Amino acid sequence: MNPVSSQHTRVLSGMRPTGSLHLGHYHGVLKNWLQLQYQYECFFFIADWHALTTHYEDPEVIPGSVWEMVIDWLAAGISHTDSKLFIQSMVPEHAELHLLLSMITPLGWLERVPSYKDQQDRLKNLDLATYGFLGYPLLQAADILIYRAGLVPVGEDQVAHVELTREVARRFNHIYGREPGFEEKADQARKKMGKKAAKLYNHYRKAFQENGDHQALEAAQALLEEQQNITVNDRERLFGYLEGSGRLILPEPMPLLTKASKMPGLDGQKMSKSYHNTIALRDEPEIVEKALRTMPTDTNRVRRSDPGDPAKCPVWQFHEVYSNEEVKHWAANGCRTAGIGCVECKQPVIESVLAELRPIQERAREFEAQPELVRSIIAEGSEAARHVAQTTMVEVREAMSMKHL
Ligand code: TRP
Ligand code: SF4
Repeated sequence: MNPVSSQHTRVLSGMRPTGSLHLGHYHGVLKNWLQLQYQYECFFFIADWHALTTHYEDPEVIPGSVWEMVIDWLAAGISHTDSKLFIQSMVPEHAELHLLLSMITPLGWLERVPSYKDQQDRLKNLDLATYGFLGYPLLQAADILIYRAGLVPVGEDQVAHVELTREVARRFNHIYGREPGFEEKADQARKKMGKKAAKLYNHYRKAFQENGDHQALEAAQALLEEQQNITVNDRERLFGYLEGSGRLILPEPMPLLTKASKMPGLDGQKMSKSYHNTIALRDEPEIVEKALRTMPTDTNRVRRSDPGDPAKCPVWQFHEVYSNEEVKHWAANGCRTAGIGCVECKQPVIESVLAELRPIQERAREFEAQPELVRSIIAEGSEAARHVAQTTMVEVREAMSMKHL
């Protein structure tokens, strides 16, 4: 498929390898990916270089975390036949694009990204006054732009990084998409579409440029996507000419904001490894059951006969995620009237969590038993991703006058 038009159907996202995943990741990220993989061409990768920006002093923990994460993705149902699953460092083109983009990225843009100072303040025990850490969001921009992805599913905390990606892409296109004789080339490209399409294109372009008509812009983009007999370069020219820029070599992606998951940790705070309140996807059922049985409840319910308040109880938050209306009514009502005890109240939650984990753990065991299969899935995914990345790099090098033979 043509790179610019495929942008609208391409999704890319990555995760830093943090070891085994928990229910917070499953409800917050993976379930979303599971949906996307059937709707779009998806690229999902493990950002091991991003891990190195903070773990450069103890990198030996990274490989283990990478493979744990791959197995958890597969166990959760992320499909290597529907999506490309790969490891960032196995596609070294990301590093080349990062380098080339660094040439045009003003320092201030990186210093102003909110996560830069935040993380330096938060991770006081690490020395993050490094070149690599400052470049973290630019490496992320390279990850995205190298696949000309249109949609980047991320949480709130990553939106600023996608925004930076958009700015870098705009600057790149502005500097390198303006070629001598651009207008004439665009004009000739337009004619190659045929009379009828060329006329429509003119009409839409005028409506957008003179009246800011965004529907016309979208209609024109759809029209360009349909064209079979124009070259990649001509298509980029026509996309750029529409919006009044030069060739759009690196299209700007959009964040696909993932709703914050309602999944709480065992103590009612956000589920996170650093709070020690997680249920890992591969925790043994006995461990999961015990963790839920011993999790705190409304502290005002000291005795069985004391009525409670679900709003003050983390177990209730689990009901919100796992229980149907009937069970929720039973729990809330039973709590407020002291009609049920906390042990009873937890029972349906325990069953639901175990039922959710069962197929995931079965698949995990299958993959754990076949490490060679897991490695070959990643080898193939990385090769397929690399192929796409190389296509982009040919154009980027040419645009930046770095093609010498
Ligand atoms: N920075 C992201 C995170 O911490 C991980 C990531 C790296 C990423 N490259 C990406 C996410 C590209 C989306 C797109 O979660
Ligand atoms: Fe929490 Fe349920 Fe006990 Fe009420 S009855 S305090 S909701 S565990």
